[in-house]
Amino acid sequence: MTKISIDEMASFCKKKGFIFQNSEIYGGMAGFFDYGPAGSEMKKNIKDYWWKYHVQDREDVVGIDGAIITHPKVWVASGHVSSFQDIMLECRKCKFQERADTFIEDKLDIAADGLKAKDLNKLVSENELVCPKCKSEFKEAQDFNLMFETQVGPKQDSESKAYLRPETAQLMFTNFKLAQEAARMKLPFGIAQMGRAFRNEISPRNFLFRCREFEQMEIEYFIHPDKVKECPYIKEVADYEIIVYSEDMQKNKKEAAKMKIKQALDKDIIKTGWHAYWLAVEHKWFVDLGVNPDNLRIRQHLSDEKSHYALDTWDLEYNFPFGWKELQGMANRTDFDLNQHIKHSDQKLTMYDQKQKKHIIPYVVAEPSLGVDRSFLVFMFDAYEHDKERGNIVLKLDSKIAPIKAAVFPLATKLEDEAREVFDLIKKEFPCKFDRSGSVGRRYARADEKGIPFCITYDFDSREDKKVTIRNRDTTKQIRVAIRDLKDILEKLLKGEKLEKFGKIIQ
Ligand code: GAP
Repeated sequence: MTKISIDEMASFCKKKGFIFQNSEIYGGMAGFFDYGPAGSEMKKNIKDYWWKYHVQDREDVVGIDGAIITHPKVWVASGHVSSFQDIMLECRKCKFQERADTFIEDKLDIAADGLKAKDLNKLVSENELVCPKCKSEFKEAQDFNLMFETQVGPKQDSESKAYLRPETAQLMFTNFKLAQEAARMKLPFGIAQMGRAFRNEISPRNFLFRCREFEQMEIEYFIHPDKVKECPYIKEVADYEIIVYSEDMQKNKKEAAKMKIKQALDKDIIKTGWHAYWLAVEHKWFVDLGVNPDNLRIRQHLSDEKSHYALDTWDLEYNFPFGWKELQGMANRTDFDLNQHIKHSDQKLTMYDQKQKKHIIPYVVAEPSLGVDRSFLVFMFDAYEHDKERGNIVLKLDSKIAPIKAAVFPLATKLEDEAREVFDLIKKEFPCKFDRSGSVGRRYARADEKGIPFCITYDFDSREDKKVTIRNRDTTKQIRVAIRDLKDILEKLLKGEKLEKFGKIIQ
């Protein structure tokens, strides 16, 4: 991986058709992005693999696909209407607005997430922080609610007021009973969902990292309230290693430490087996998709940093060029949400315990909550490599998420028709690209920069021996294979089998 800045990544993504600034022809709109030809394929692959790993490959998780606009009472019950806010600084003179905690973190290099307005005001005045635009003083910091409001129906009054959802999570709680009964789920089980979320961020920044419209992939995992410590799957991850940065390490200025999940549990650093299990499962999802585990760590929230609903929260963090930042949140939400919806809707969102002969309210001991766009950024940073020898960028994306799986080249214009026949053989099996323009070296470089794992060249010998060369993006090694075997071999290569297995390396 070659370290580049977030601005360099944004321009690379634009040039290669991954991400565009939304409505760029009108000057753009801060916090909104559009996925281009390569980006939209890759985003779909990320979401498909998330769904396969978390829903289709498991017996204990079912999916839903809820609406973006939902009854406004949902957001009153969840606490978002009253408490989903960031603290804002506004310049007295030019009215420039900034999110207070991130502004202070950047200026003073301290952690300010979760600080109250009065503490942030104190830091601003003690350190004489002023507006970065016009150098005037700020007004007193104040709360700003991040919910996007809208009106439903033709009447434009307070009764028609609704909100765009700021998280997908609440739909899993409001549909909890319906989904549980329809799928006949027994505890422990999870409900998963992916989809759009909207937050009116005060100062969206760092490209895809903090947007106003983004997508989430979330699971609410429900367990019996008496079985908070009993995770039947813990053995599967006991020896899995993760870099851990606990509250104690942060407060006592200790370094984060690599340890096995079982050590983190034995030392009571992670309090419950369930929380530890889901942290390992989520970490592994990224590692399975090629992310270097040294760039991932789990960090426990400090007591004053936790959300209003959380008993204990750990974030999966990534070492971005702008520092270690949250990639995924994993809160122990307890029975807070179901209880709130029971109170506000007067419905029985409970399950009957046959043994105890009573109704219980299931408990969410871990809520893996991940942003699609933030994950996308992580895969791009981790895959980006400037290869000095080749003189171009090589995007070493895992085959599962690479937008295009193979490119087919005719070595010369004369060979185009035959090369197209090869392309036609595989194009329905994998997303492929036919590239006939420029030197083969230039075509390889273009494929490398788009993250295409394999290039297939049809040359003059192909006419005689009915073979083509396959070149591996990461190693540049090549083999020659019979055209009739190409589809099967490519399928195996894309699943991770080695090139050497299918032929002698010719370069
Ligand atoms: N249901 C819990 C929840 O929404 P969160 O920590 O606010 O928790 C979860 O958000 C994840 O959603 C984050 O870890 C991040 O990946 C993504 N996310 C949150 N706000 C975002 C934003 N403004 N832009 C892009 N992604 C965001």
